[in-house]
Amino acid sequence: MADVIIVPHLHAGGAAAATLIAAVLSPKPDMVLGVATGSTPLPIWSALAAMRLDMSRVSAFALDEYLDLPPGHPESYAAVVHREIAVPLGLNPRKVHTPDAQADLRDAPSAYESAIRAAGGIDVQVVGIGRNGHIGFNEPGSSLSGRTHIANLAAQTRRDNARFFESFDQVPTRCITQGVGTILDARRLILVASGRRKADAVAAALEGPVTASVPASALQLHPDVVAIVDEDAASRLSFADHYRMSAPHGDAA
Ligand code: GLP
Repeated sequence: MADVIIVPHLHAGGAAAATLIAAVLSPKPDMVLGVATGSTPLPIWSALAAMRLDMSRVSAFALDEYLDLPPGHPESYAAVVHREIAVPLGLNPRKVHTPDAQADLRDAPSAYESAIRAAGGIDVQVVGIGRNGHIGFNEPGSSLSGRTHIANLAAQTRRDNARFFESFDQVPTRCITQGVGTILDARRLILVASGRRKADAVAAALEGPVTASVPASALQLHPDVVAIVDEDAASRLSFADHYRMSAPHGDAA
């Protein structure tokens, strides 16, 4: 069972997650941080940046990347991670990794797995959740033990991400993503979710059966998961009161 922290709003959630990351960084300045794109984790990066920690020795690995975008496209996750995470946190660009969408796709997935292994594995992985229960770009039906691989994006995900492109048609149809098994290898996971449109996915992920139909439900199998969700995203949880009382990081709210 994950520790579930229900916060009134995303800002408090960002501060709570940043505190957890800082606690790992303090004894291990060269920690390996798993970063996630999307809007939900943004308050984590701004809270971490505000702490003014020396993160120059940190290695970072993104969960996923679009395929078929021109190199340097501003919505490629390489560009997004650089702009929204690496620069504000003061990460060393040479230590920031996204799956290489421009490489030979026969080699890119295993190369990414090797790079994570060579860095010593991920200490803390931040994970968002899709409305359809995806983590990274592991859409419903993905193997719960999968490794980094090439996959197709669900139509729902393309619609949700169309806001970052000029039109739905411009949203790539393919991606390279850490597999659910890769994600579960991280030593600690922080799941973040916000808003009513995530409420069903959050309830299915945290309280439903572990099933490939909801890839995020695999997080229930991990021994060290903290889910930080706002009131709206928590609104379909059956045991919300229990979580509130048992939340170990009471300062989060
Ligand atoms: C994209 C990312 C996912 C992320 C999701 C949620 O699809 N590939 O890793 O979980 O967005 O994004 P948001 O937090 O903006 O809802």
